[in-house]
Amino acid sequence: MSYDIAVVPGDGVGREVTPATVRVLESLDVPFSFTEYEAGDGTLAEAGEALPEVTSQGVESADATLFGAAGESAADVILPLRETVGSFANVRPVRAYPGVDALQPETDLVFVRENTEGVYTGIEDEITEGVTTLTRVVTDDASRRIAAFGFDYAEQRGADVTVAHKANVMRVTDGQFLDSVRAVGDERGAEYDELLMDALAMHLVQRPADFDVVLCPNLAGDLLSDLAAGLVGGLGLLPSANVGTDNALFEPVHGSAPDIAGQGVANPAATMLSAALMLEWLGEDEAGRRVRDAVEGVLSDGPRTPDLGGEAATEDVTEAVVERL
Ligand code: NAI
Ligand code: MG
Repeated sequence: MSYDIAVVPGDGVGREVTPATVRVLESLDVPFSFTEYEAGDGTLAEAGEALPEVTSQGVESADATLFGAAGESAADVILPLRETVGSFANVRPVRAYPGVDALQPETDLVFVRENTEGVYTGIEDEITEGVTTLTRVVTDDASRRIAAFGFDYAEQRGADVTVAHKANVMRVTDGQFLDSVRAVGDERGAEYDELLMDALAMHLVQRPADFDVVLCPNLAGDLLSDLAAGLVGGLGLLPSANVGTDNALFEPVHGSAPDIAGQGVANPAATMLSAALMLEWLGEDEAGRRVRDAVEGVLSDGPRTPDLGGEAATEDVTEAVVERL
């Protein structure tokens, strides 16, 4: 048996960090069969569509997908692909690594972000010139599902849960989210804190060590996780998992980074750490731990890419990770 992995490098640095990560996976003694698919701005320019059907089908039928990043077409690529794998949970661990300069070296938390609703699947409209609207959907079903996932995830790790919301202003929609989360929490007798998301943003900057699992509506999870990236040394370090019931897609939190794309200096750590999450999701816990240890070892001892103050190329970092494995 081997794991059938769809690989979608996408655009920009996605095309650099994804092959680097495949190299790391190939150096493990886990049987993989990789199939590469196209998507993103380049594909749109060449083939007239950012997300060809063959890519969606490949992702749907694979055991799991490793995704790099898309550029301007990201919304037309990654949102449908998350849906293709039936992902309702976006898991984003954020931690500071020894040896890497961090504003907040105590940071070690995980965002569990609702992945199907809210403004990202909202309907935008321009009613008349200069007057625009956004309608978003928040349901009890989806809110309960992410809450159950978040409480389970926290329980497995013995972690505390903080629920982010803005139900004081968005009384109906965030109110629904909060009511549903409370219902699930109460059914389980779970203990958790609730915080308004704007205040939470401040607390995350000032005392990130006080937070473990942060359960978020869709947009808040996106914003707060990038904020937290700033606490630990940048987007080059943040992995993510888009988890469904029987399929999943793993990707760095960052985008195609056009400012550094093509220079061979993108930090591959976020994508390699995403691959570690993929290994664990596949049940290959030992291999996942080995990849994480190897990446952490290289972050700590170098070589490091320029975003972390180093001078190394993506390839040097990849070589060092593979050597440790
Ligand atoms: P970005 O994440 O691409 O870049 C933000 C900053 O982080 C840049 O300074 C970049 O150089 C740096 N950075 C990102 N990844 C890095 C890495 N691996 N190593 C070192 N430095 C790294 O976000 P930005 O600039 O807002 O968006 C650029 C493009 O990416 C846009 O077209 C956007 O639509 C797309 N995007 C795609 C996403 C996806 O495919 N999931 C997510 C976010 C943005
Ligand atoms: Mg984002």
